[in-house]
Amino acid sequence: MKNIYITTAIPYVNGAPHIGHAMDYCLADVCARYHTLLGDAVRFQAGTDEHGNKIDLKARELGVSTQEYVNENAAKFQDFVRKLGVEYTDFVRTTDDDHVRRCQEIWRKLEPYIYKAKYEGWYCTGCERYVTDKECEENHGTCPDHLKAYEKLSEENYYFRIADFKERVREAILSGEMIVLPDYRQAEMLKLLDESPDVSISRPVSQLKWGVPVPGDETQVMYVWLDALSNYITVLGYPDVDISDWWPATAEFVGKDILRFHAIIWPAMLLGLGLPLPRALVSHGMVLADGQKMSKSIGNVVDPVEVIDRHGLDAFRYFFLRHIDTFADSDFTWEKYDAAYNNELANDLGNLVQRLATLAQKNNIVVAETVDDFELPAEYCELMDNYEYSKAFDYAWGRVQSINRSIDESKPWALAKNGEIDKLQECMTGLVHELLNANRLLTPFLPTAAEKIAAIFAGPVVPPATPLFPKTK
Ligand code: MSP
Repeated sequence: MKNIYITTAIPYVNGAPHIGHAMDYCLADVCARYHTLLGDAVRFQAGTDEHGNKIDLKARELGVSTQEYVNENAAKFQDFVRKLGVEYTDFVRTTDDDHVRRCQEIWRKLEPYIYKAKYEGWYCTGCERYVTDKECEENHGTCPDHLKAYEKLSEENYYFRIADFKERVREAILSGEMIVLPDYRQAEMLKLLDESPDVSISRPVSQLKWGVPVPGDETQVMYVWLDALSNYITVLGYPDVDISDWWPATAEFVGKDILRFHAIIWPAMLLGLGLPLPRALVSHGMVLADGQKMSKSIGNVVDPVEVIDRHGLDAFRYFFLRHIDTFADSDFTWEKYDAAYNNELANDLGNLVQRLATLAQKNNIVVAETVDDFELPAEYCELMDNYEYSKAFDYAWGRVQSINRSIDESKPWALAKNGEIDKLQECMTGLVHELLNANRLLTPFLPTAAEKIAAIFAGPVVPPATPLFPKTK
């Protein structure tokens, strides 16, 4: 039994959650449930990123106090994570007193690598990121993600000496001490690391009020990413308690847009603190809506609650974990979503359960509970261990489809009709055994459905009164 610590990016609370936010949580939840299946002890963090100008500006725009505003939105995110069936163990809010105090202690520990200098350059409040002259020029002065002009800053800031750690971070990535996934992002990160100047890690209080005060200098507030990245260890109690039972994290799940912070600033901070680096940084692609980036101005933001309510949570997880590729950008459309629900979840799995359970009940078939001796197949484990979750889900689904083919070939209903009870018993036991094995592989992806299916066949078989996934067309 191993101790496994899994983390998710903490979203900004400058609005309600959208379907893209579900990715970190769902992927991390698959990881957590897979390790639980393997018998490991799992700790799983989630949280909210509540500081920075972006949030402060939004609250002002709405004419509410910033604290009130973040309280309201943080609650929406907490509800959302629960609604996704995600079994996190720890939730951190960056406005929590403990987080703020621990962050300040982290700053103190990093002081040997911090110096004060004048920052002259660009900043994007949308990304909450300092932008190099080269990047600003390439993008003609406007952030391509937020379609807003970069702000010109000229201010006295504290800097973090990334230069001191670059070589160590490079070695860690190349040696696999800190795996960066998918592979093709690794080269991208190494190049960025090379080009990374020392990073400015504070803003004058005149420019940014909503943040963690720099200890010992009331004129400065911490850069929001320094505060946000620290969450992964402050939530474990660092530096008040020894976190070595859980740290380093087994896997940190982030979107590809924020991998750069996790592959450069974060490891440098950890090295400065004398802490080991996460074992894997897993970066997923973006969920697009009708082929486009979701944005409030285009008006194509998809509300995850609406998606869940349409066909239930299993359908949501089914689509986002199988049809949204784990690493590449993928498209959500209502048509694709409905088709996946009706043609796959309802047809392949729902019908299969209904058919087998009905046959078993009608013919008094006794099904021995045989999953205890079941070992997870090597092919599945390899995919799961490499965080290839959409592929592992495909593999599990292939098992479901092959049971459907076996039923069509072995025709248990014909055996029942001909009164060949012994043969029927043998055939059904084999089929249900296969179903329960496949169900085991589905558990990390569709925990609610998997639990129901296991319960249906656990004792005298009673088919569900209504199909598990009633068709909508
Ligand atoms: N607050 C920072 C993260 C700090 S982590 C120490 C942030 N917040 S965010 O709200 O912009 O994004 C939160 C997570 O959601 C990120 O992993 C981001 O990649 C992910 N996504 C946001 N939009 C997304 C899609 N459209 N699709 C998939 N993931 C998306 O960045």
